Amino acid sequence: MPEGGTTRDIIESVLEKPSVFKSREKLDPDYVPEKLPHREQQLKQLAMYFRGIITDPGSTSHRALIVGPIGVGKTASARRFTMDFAEIARKRGLTLRMVYINCHAVRTLYSVVTSIASQLEIPMPTRGYSAREVFERVLEKLEERDEHAIIILDEFDYFIETSGNDAVYFLVRVYDEYPMFKRRMHYIFIMRDLKHLNMLNPATVNYLLKNVVTFQPYTVAQLYDILQYRAELSFYPGTVGDEVIRYIAELTGIDGHGEGNARQALQILTLAGEYADNEGSDRITIEHVRKAHALVNPHAVRIQDIILEGSLTLHQLLLLLAIIRVLRSKETEPYAKMGEVEQEYRAVCEEFGEKPRGHTQVYEYIRDLKLKGVIDAKPSGKGVRGRTTLIGLSAAPLDILEKTVIDAIRKFKAGDVP
Ligand SMILES: Nc1ncnc2c1ncn2[C@@H]1O[C@H](COP(=O)(O)OP(=O)(O)OP(=O)(O)O)[C@@H](O)[C@H]1O
Ligand SMILES: [Mg+2]
Repeated sequence: MPEGGTTRDIIESVLEKPSVFKSREKLDPDYVPEKLPHREQQLKQLAMYFRGIITDPGSTSHRALIVGPIGVGKTASARRFTMDFAEIARKRGLTLRMVYINCHAVRTLYSVVTSIASQLEIPMPTRGYSAREVFERVLEKLEERDEHAIIILDEFDYFIETSGNDAVYFLVRVYDEYPMFKRRMHYIFIMRDLKHLNMLNPATVNYLLKNVVTFQPYTVAQLYDILQYRAELSFYPGTVGDEVIRYIAELTGIDGHGEGNARQALQILTLAGEYADNEGSDRITIEHVRKAHALVNPHAVRIQDIILEGSLTLHQLLLLLAIIRVLRSKETEPYAKMGEVEQEYRAVCEEFGEKPRGHTQVYEYIRDLKLKGVIDAKPSGKGVRGRTTLIGLSAAPLDILEKTVIDAIRKFKAGDVP
């Protein structure tokens, strides 16, 4: 584009810029995908707990408590379930509405109740009503309109913490006080763990714990499927290779190097896509993933520190440089084989005028670098001829790291530290 283009030219040039993203918005955190691979069991459980809304409407207020750690699909599953359940109910002539409240932002009984009213489009005077009065109006309106609602109270821990037992009790046992109303309000509570339940009375706790749906962290294999599916929705074909998906899954899976957090996995995928776009690359590379992983993983910055603070020996630095160079030479393979690294290490030693250490010693260095969290090392699985150690480095982008390591080696040499 020529210098001094018109605003229109500038906008056009951005619009025309090729991108690996087909539908970027389908990776937004609040996008609710149609399928949730590996949550079939939990969705089935929810369907069992709430089926009475359709089969015997009005008789009971149904509820479930979803529990699981960060990024395991709790919110997505609750929303997807309620949306689809409402659609199925509608086909059977029952109006079921979804109310979603994040208690991180809405923590008091009054604000929860008014939020329910406003999402159900029930007009309220702006002042003068108590929580109880607002609630009564909601119950009346639902009766009048012959509607049901599933109220999702996400991050419910915050509500318990801020509002305490009486507020929770009021919410969950409200029908006890209004026996004249049909049971039209149903609840999905979502919590990260159960420790906040200690703040409640046993009766309230029993009520909450009746139907618990547990979400476990995702494994590497599960995240592989999830990433595959989400990538298909969001990226153009051929831009996200299988090795990219596999690597992100290994970095984030609970049985890999991560916590089993799908949000983090998707964040890495999204960021890697942005790096690819910024560089004008027509596909995501392993180095893009490394960069993205370094950014979302708080541990990652530490690597630069470990190197700068001088806790690595000269030969560990030389070995690290060898690892970086082997990995940089591979575009689509996230791991280096031990043999390749040793060969490169000897070349690096020659470059810096150092005598290479023997195999056993090098192996010790590898173990130490792994312990310090600088590299990932794992035995090769099937598919690699002869068993060897595979070495990866995911906590920092390699181009920047290479410079840091070379500087550190030069400093060592200048100071002539043995
Ligand atoms: N099984 C799955 N299939 C596809 N996408 C998934 C799946 N599980 C989670 N995700 C996606 O991963 C991200 C995180 O999921 P979600 O927000 O539901 O996690 P959460 O358990 O509610 O986490 P938090 O405790 O931090 O609120 C979302 O973008 C969601 O769409
Ligand atoms: Mg959530």
